[in-house]
Amino acid sequence: MIRPETIQNIFETAHIEEVIGDFVTLKKRGANYVGLCPFHNEKTPSFSVSPSKGIYKCFGCGKAGNVVNFVIEHEHYSYPEALRYVAKRYGIEVEEEEVTPEMQQELDERESMFALNGFVTKYFRENLVTKEEGKSVGLTYLKERDFRDDTIEKFEVGYTIDKWEDYSKHAIANGYKKEILVKTGLSIEKENNLIDRFRGRVIFPIHNLTGKVIGFGGRILSSEKSTAKYINSPESDIYNKSRVLYGIFYARNEIVKKNLCYLVEGYTDVISLHQAGIENVVASSGTSLTPDQIKLVKRFTPNITMLFDGDPAGIKASFRGIELILEQGMNVKVVLFPEGEDPDSYARSHRTSETEAFIKNEAVDFIKFKTNLLLDETVGDPAARASLIKEIVQTIATIPDGISRSVYIKECSTIMEVPEQTLMNELNKSLRRRFRDKTAPRQEYFAPPEPSQSLDEQLEIDPLDISRHEKELMRLLLLYGYEHFLFADEESGENIEVRVSDFIVNDLQNENIKLENQLFNQMLEEYSKAIKEERQLSEIYFANHPNPKIAAIAIELIATQHQLSENWKEKKIYIKTEKDKLNTMVLTSLLTLKSRLISKQLKQLSDSLKVTSDDAGVFILQQQYYELKNIAARIENQLTRSFHY
Ligand code: CTP
Ligand code: MN
Repeated sequence: MIRPETIQNIFETAHIEEVIGDFVTLKKRGANYVGLCPFHNEKTPSFSVSPSKGIYKCFGCGKAGNVVNFVIEHEHYSYPEALRYVAKRYGIEVEEEEVTPEMQQELDERESMFALNGFVTKYFRENLVTKEEGKSVGLTYLKERDFRDDTIEKFEVGYTIDKWEDYSKHAIANGYKKEILVKTGLSIEKENNLIDRFRGRVIFPIHNLTGKVIGFGGRILSSEKSTAKYINSPESDIYNKSRVLYGIFYARNEIVKKNLCYLVEGYTDVISLHQAGIENVVASSGTSLTPDQIKLVKRFTPNITMLFDGDPAGIKASFRGIELILEQGMNVKVVLFPEGEDPDSYARSHRTSETEAFIKNEAVDFIKFKTNLLLDETVGDPAARASLIKEIVQTIATIPDGISRSVYIKECSTIMEVPEQTLMNELNKSLRRRFRDKTAPRQEYFAPPEPSQSLDEQLEIDPLDISRHEKELMRLLLLYGYEHFLFADEESGENIEVRVSDFIVNDLQNENIKLENQLFNQMLEEYSKAIKEERQLSEIYFANHPNPKIAAIAIELIATQHQLSENWKEKKIYIKTEKDKLNTMVLTSLLTLKSRLISKQLKQLSDSLKVTSDDAGVFILQQQYYELKNIAARIENQLTRSFHY
């Protein structure tokens, strides 16, 4: 745990343009710095850094954040790792909160496991390149498979001597503890002796995101069937199979750059594609894909292309993986390699440009993939065809985004030659099944009028989602909190000059309104306190807030184009008009938010009405309903009077 004071100190000391300048060539332009965005490919700079606000923003890809966010994004560090990195750059000592002896022991143990893995990785490499057995057995094999020296070195491929206790002894002799050898799974304890788990195998170390070795895969070199082709490290405190993808450490930057991740099955597929210069590739290592693995990819890109060899059993097993990817809201395409080929063999027997072209041309979305595979089986069998259609629609139903769903429905309608409306009906059935309410609606004592279809609904914006209204209000507070505007007071009939922050904070407090977003409530409390103490809180304070969640949301709110880019003329005008219309904006925003909150309560009331059967209960609910309706009408009224912007 890093203390909040230290975090504050780090933010106050760091110069964002210096930290980013270590990674990106920045040129001064006006008050800001600009450079080529490190998060997407571009030829003209649209990445802007504002030293005064302590934030960066790319107008090309939209990435924005403060100094610590940058290090997290760029280096794929965790929050504490990034804080330590910035602290170190400025010589700030990071005082940790006390760790208990148990925590310490666990930390020490993990450290020892990493250290041991690093040690044996080096040793396995020595075996491969300097020892007779390694060279004649291991290296020869790898050469036969066309792996180049630089590739073998990059992936730290090694070899284990074919003896019962070779590296176990070597590690013990070098001061590594027996328990740690067992804990990592490198050695197996038998009658007080240690046996090497990997013997006479080519070793592929498995790296985590930051490049530390967490486990190993070992391939036998003979083709005899008596032993498994691959042996892998068992799960341990540092190796959790379902959360790792082989090759992620080497692929992560390229995945971000290409905004695409190739997913293959095995170690050798990853290595061969890398050797061919295709580096945005990782492997699930023979196990079926897990949600955690998909989330890992999602940190870098929303796009996955799965590369399969032409083995039908494996392909059908992959359907579940496709659904998992769709469920996470990611885009998935599939490439099927010709019978008898896998990405590894294909990349070896073709030029890089050919492999790239093949993947590009063959990549199809899951609907084409599934229909191409299964449609043949349904020829002349209408029932089978119908169930295939149902299955595909069910897959479409797993996609969280409505617009994507309708695009796929259209496509499915074309391919399967089924009317779109028929598929839509089927989709809606599936969706209802997925979200079915456990409580069936009761008889209708009282049915509030159904609202006619609004634009929100047409755009699939949830009218009960008030988060964007909360955001707009908080944006105004952050940007213009200390500006003033004239407010026409209804009671006195006078125009009063008020400060935006006072007005918003007071209004919410008077009406006892709490926002749904707890971070916003925290921010409002800080404002309220500052008002009492006659201090001003700037947007810069919030953008560099010790609570990373508050910093992130503040940055999202203020890092809009017109904020950073001072040389965009029209944006300057936009700011001016925003300031000019401050009273309209603040009032409209507050009123809209209230009106949405009330709509939400109305909806909840009408829902309770549906399940309430006793007369008294219904009466009370109806009363509340009409009271709220009146308030809603009043607000609607104020809203129409309070000009549009
Ligand atoms: N695998 C495994 N255990 C096995 C077989 C396979 O863990 N007994 C995993 C490995 O991670 C392997 C992947 O599944 O990389 C894919 O298997 P396969 O295609 O058989 O292996 P390749 O990686 O293609 O290896 P090779 O080309 O050397 O046969
Ligand atoms: Mn293979």
